[in-house]
Amino acid sequence: MTDIDVRIKALGAKGDGVAEAYGGAIFVPFAAPGDLVKLRLSKSKDGSRRGKILLITEPGNDRHPAACMHFTECGGCSVQHLSPTAYQAWKRDIVCQALERQNLDVSVIADLVAGSAGSRRRARFSARRLAGGTILGFLEMGSHRIVDLNECPVLHSDIISVVPPLRELLDGLLDVRGTAEIAVTRADSGLDITLLMAEETDLKVRENLAVFAETNDVARISWKPLKSKAGDSAEPIVARRAVVMKFGDVQTEIPPDAFIQPTSWGEQTLREHVVAAVGGAAKVVELYAGCGAFTLPIAQSGSQIFAVDMAQDHLEGLSRAARSNALGERVTVEARNLDRRPLAGPELDAVDVVVLDPPRAGASSQVGLLAQSAIPVVVYVSCNPQSFARDARKFIDGGYRLESVVPIDQFLWSPHIELVSVFRRP
Ligand SMILES: C[S@@+](CC[C@H](N)C(=O)[O-])C[C@H]1O[C@@H](n2cnc3c(N)ncnc32)[C@H](O)[C@@H]1O
Repeated sequence: MTDIDVRIKALGAKGDGVAEAYGGAIFVPFAAPGDLVKLRLSKSKDGSRRGKILLITEPGNDRHPAACMHFTECGGCSVQHLSPTAYQAWKRDIVCQALERQNLDVSVIADLVAGSAGSRRRARFSARRLAGGTILGFLEMGSHRIVDLNECPVLHSDIISVVPPLRELLDGLLDVRGTAEIAVTRADSGLDITLLMAEETDLKVRENLAVFAETNDVARISWKPLKSKAGDSAEPIVARRAVVMKFGDVQTEIPPDAFIQPTSWGEQTLREHVVAAVGGAAKVVELYAGCGAFTLPIAQSGSQIFAVDMAQDHLEGLSRAARSNALGERVTVEARNLDRRPLAGPELDAVDVVVLDPPRAGASSQVGLLAQSAIPVVVYVSCNPQSFARDARKFIDGGYRLESVVPIDQFLWSPHIELVSVFRRP
């Protein structure tokens, strides 16, 4: 094992400090630019050199106290140790660098819309019952070890408050050494909890869950096998009231463990940009529409909209909400896997605007077809600047102009970032 003293030069895209030694880069988790550190060197599986901080000999000017007691142990956050100014510059730069790598115009990137602590409304915890009790929290970075959560300045306080009672509940539900995942969403009508576990739910378990929901004012508790496949739906066990979200002015019922944007302010910011870019266009197609966070407000602004998503249960709530808000004539939906069967040919004829918000992998096959279409405006929402930049290159090569990119820090203190962009055919 080699120990060396180095100065941290910069912060990489995953939040690690980067130093230069022995003619190459060394990645140093939790180091800030300017730090002079004593490191223990190691090699990671991919062959890159990594350094573990043994001592911060001289802190850099951008170093800042972390907000959370679990920082450096819990895998949820990688960058809490920077001043807000340095942190926000790094976050925006992740988008700039992704676009630069594809030779795209970075001058269209707006200032970062900064995030706020205590606003995350979705969490997926891991739990394990040990002989001495259940531990519940997030996984350590690059490991299966669970960090037992005492605080989390990222999450909404309603989610944090339910952690101790959840731990107690799982103590009674899990076998010793048993594990579970717990998806908690803070919907507008209260907490929606989905338990993913191997243990069966008998009558006694159902009664316990009903008492838990009553005591902690949880709107719904559902159950799903731990090893379920993507697309398997959860079984609601306790439903004390409808689980609803308000998208703009329209209230929608959402299914258990539904996709919703991780923060309400982030969703609102995205929606404002999307609705403004659509501008009440006559015929809109929305791909990866989810529960309708953009669909319903777009329909309200006067457009006819065709919304596609592979999650049938998300679209059912969307359709019901459209009908009960007199938008049924304007909204049509289709459950469809866009990787296997992207929209093509006549389906893209006479469309004024396409809105798409794909998962992290992007929308490669669909974008290939959109980029060759005559659609005048494309509004692309993305949670991954790398796949976005790859897809954006296809639009540019297809003759579109990248008009704007707005980075939105919905994933506070992590290397993830959301963005909304507009492409226009000149
Ligand atoms: C990032 S979410 C966006 C949802 C929605 N726009 C919102 O803001 O709430 C991505 C959506 O893509 C859907 N999805 C993922 N893979 C898909 C695929 N291959 N085909 C169609 N939809 C897919 C998911 O069900 C999810 O609703």
